[in-house]
Amino acid sequence: MSTPLRAAITAVGGYVPETKLTNFDLEKMVDTNDEWIRSRTGISERRILREPGKASSDMAVKAIEEILRKKNLDPLEIDCIICATVTPDMVFPATANIIGNKIGAKNAFGFDLGAACSGFLFALTTGSNFIESGRYKKIIVVGVDKMSSIIDYTDRATCIIFGDGAGAVLLEPNMEGLGYQDSILKSDGSGCEFLHIKAGGSLKPASIETVMAKEHYAFQDGQPVFKFAVKGMADVSAELLEKHNLTGDDIAWLVPHQANLRIIDATANRMGLPIEKVMINIQKYGNTTAATIPLCLWEWESRLNKGDNIVLAAFGGGFTWGAAWLKWAY
Ligand code: UT7
Repeated sequence: MSTPLRAAITAVGGYVPETKLTNFDLEKMVDTNDEWIRSRTGISERRILREPGKASSDMAVKAIEEILRKKNLDPLEIDCIICATVTPDMVFPATANIIGNKIGAKNAFGFDLGAACSGFLFALTTGSNFIESGRYKKIIVVGVDKMSSIIDYTDRATCIIFGDGAGAVLLEPNMEGLGYQDSILKSDGSGCEFLHIKAGGSLKPASIETVMAKEHYAFQDGQPVFKFAVKGMADVSAELLEKHNLTGDDIAWLVPHQANLRIIDATANRMGLPIEKVMINIQKYGNTTAATIPLCLWEWESRLNKGDNIVLAAFGGGFTWGAAWLKWAY
């Protein structure tokens, strides 16, 4: 029997802005403190894109340019760009198109995918299916969010959590059985009430009233989201292992969405994984929404080995959640 065509990540790129927003900075802005933030979330600082005129596409371009350099890849060879984001440069056109223009990917089609913190996972699955169809050879999947553009820095419930960043991967066909193996993805729109932006969409277009009411900022009712996230991310990761008769011993790395260290701990426990096998960088980047998972892969890239079993797991707005199993290809 011949080995099936799979989609493998063959390069990773990342970018975080230089400006750091520390817990101590936030202490001066809202009624909070470093000890509370660290013990409740695991976050010490996050990066903020401060330069005027810079948007999500600019961070995505930096991450993708690293891939182009590493692989000596001509942008004209890229077939498709999938951009996972909740902070597009504009409502339309898709940020993927803006990125494609900036990097000179003249032969690529592109679109944005909105699944909040699960965006990268959903986009990776989508891109992998395109590759597995046999029709496409080179797909860029980028997770990027400029969360600082939708955060109210007087709201302590949200401003302590989020940061800005971008992470990208190149997907190519693999004939050795390596790469993307399977995923379980889930959505439940009843979660909308707990995590959303009230205005700026077709339901409530922007008006002076919506601006005055601060309805263009992210709203989060943290506790219910936390409860759903702990259960959702742990359950789906365990389900994926069981489906493939895998145990924690078979897994080299868990790459969890970085929303809260307590949610990450619960998922690792449920999978029977020691914390040494879990990628964690929430302390320095906070929650960068669609960028957390590729930013972890970017940071750990040199420690990954060909054949490693890796599980990516996410939970976020929607609600959306899921887990994917990869065999690292290089
Ligand atoms: O990535 C997308 C998905 N999002 C998530 O997964 C986030 C899930 N939720 C969370 O991570 C947590 O719910 C938060 C980190 C947002 C909040 O942590 P929590 O342990 O759920 O805190 P809480 O909202 O239950 O608040 C506990 C206490 C309250 O005070 P009282 O009522 O006990 O006196 C809050 O008023 O902490 C207070 N509090 C704060 N204190 C200092 C809430 N926010 C803060 C703050 N600084 N920033």
